[in-house]
Amino acid sequence: MVKIDVKGCNSFVKESEYQTYVEKALAAYDVLDAENGAGNDFLGWKTLPVDIPESLICEFESIRDDWKNKGVNLVIVIGIGGSYLGARCAIEALGHQFVRKEGVPQVVFAGNNLSEEYLAELMDLAKTSNTAVIVISKSGTTTEPAVAFRIFKEYIEQTYGKSEASERIVAITDAKKGALKTLATQEGYKSFIVPDNVGGRYSVLTPVGLLPIVIAGFDVRAMLKGAADQREALSVRSAENPAVQYAAMRNLLHSEYGKAIEIFVVYNPKFTYLAEWWKQLYGESEGKDGKGIFPASVTNTADLHSMGQFIQEGSRVMFETVINVENANRSVVIGSDEQNLDQLNYLAGKSVNHCNAMAQLGTKIAHIDGGVPQMEVSIERINEENLGAIFYFFEFACGVSAYTLGINPFNQPGVEAYKKNMFALLRKPGYEAQTEEILKRI
Ligand code: PA5
Repeated sequence: MVKIDVKGCNSFVKESEYQTYVEKALAAYDVLDAENGAGNDFLGWKTLPVDIPESLICEFESIRDDWKNKGVNLVIVIGIGGSYLGARCAIEALGHQFVRKEGVPQVVFAGNNLSEEYLAELMDLAKTSNTAVIVISKSGTTTEPAVAFRIFKEYIEQTYGKSEASERIVAITDAKKGALKTLATQEGYKSFIVPDNVGGRYSVLTPVGLLPIVIAGFDVRAMLKGAADQREALSVRSAENPAVQYAAMRNLLHSEYGKAIEIFVVYNPKFTYLAEWWKQLYGESEGKDGKGIFPASVTNTADLHSMGQFIQEGSRVMFETVINVENANRSVVIGSDEQNLDQLNYLAGKSVNHCNAMAQLGTKIAHIDGGVPQMEVSIERINEENLGAIFYFFEFACGVSAYTLGINPFNQPGVEAYKKNMFALLRKPGYEAQTEEILKRI
């Protein structure tokens, strides 16, 4: 379960102002609860932790077992934005960073960029592996995953034959519409649905996130339980509700103190993709109508040696939200050295995690002294249950926070702008007029 500590902001704000923003956040909480706010046809994510049927998880496990029986050792998950970041976050957080679990395929991601080198090098890996593909696109029309899928579909068909290809490709898309839906139906792929009322960035607890996480060998039942417990905890309308506190403090810092940037801080490289997932969630949900807090991130302690200088002494436009993990899953204790040439004997007998915790605490004090307010969001340790809780917490808090700011958190009209220009430049049929226009500007 997630805990929040906003005390690191207390010296920057007045208590009475905080109470005012708690009231505003509670009013926003009521809108989310009553489901009568803007974008209320996209609230399916709220009940996902208790809606996902056991039979669906069993279907995921049967795909995992079928692929294991075929000797599949590489699964390429094709998707972009909300159609990949949640799965990638969970797999990187829960998995071993260097050693693959025996009997579990390597899970890699494609369709999240248009880099030729990326695709060519991934193809090199596919050619030396026993490969299967999961293609994910809610709209079924997004260019990046569609391009990657065309390339890997052709490879799978040529390598394993057309009929076997339908056993090695799974599609996750809309129930009715989109090119991927048509293609999957025609080719006879096993398909799963992204519910109509769940937007891409809120879809990690649908097949979009759950199937790749099962394939990578993790326990989605525990993840859903963690999310369900967090949902229960957030169902209490109170000033102590952590989502209300988070929404209140970030809106106060932004609206009254001009803090335009929120830095999501992690102290474990396994959480770098949690930060990526969070950035999409908050960036796409709040950044519209000329409003919003710019979501940035750092992975410490690495970034204390790069971004640390700016955070300590640069423009005072930011606050930090630190993900605090109370206990490490592994322990590495620093040894003693008779000669002590590296002068590290003062650390002998201490764990690396203790050093990390002291770096975190020292940084907190330094940043607060330097004018950077800090909130802390804590979990007990990294595991499936706590990851489910953290997903649900930030999704719910995002709804509360965006409504506090007066924004519809569930649309993303701005992402169409680059696509129109790109289609015109790629001469997609139907974009002829825009092509003429755009060519005059370059
Ligand atoms: O949050 C969103 O809706 C977007 O970021 C989408 O997830 C992203 O654009 C991918 O869209 P699709 O799943 O339709 O390919």
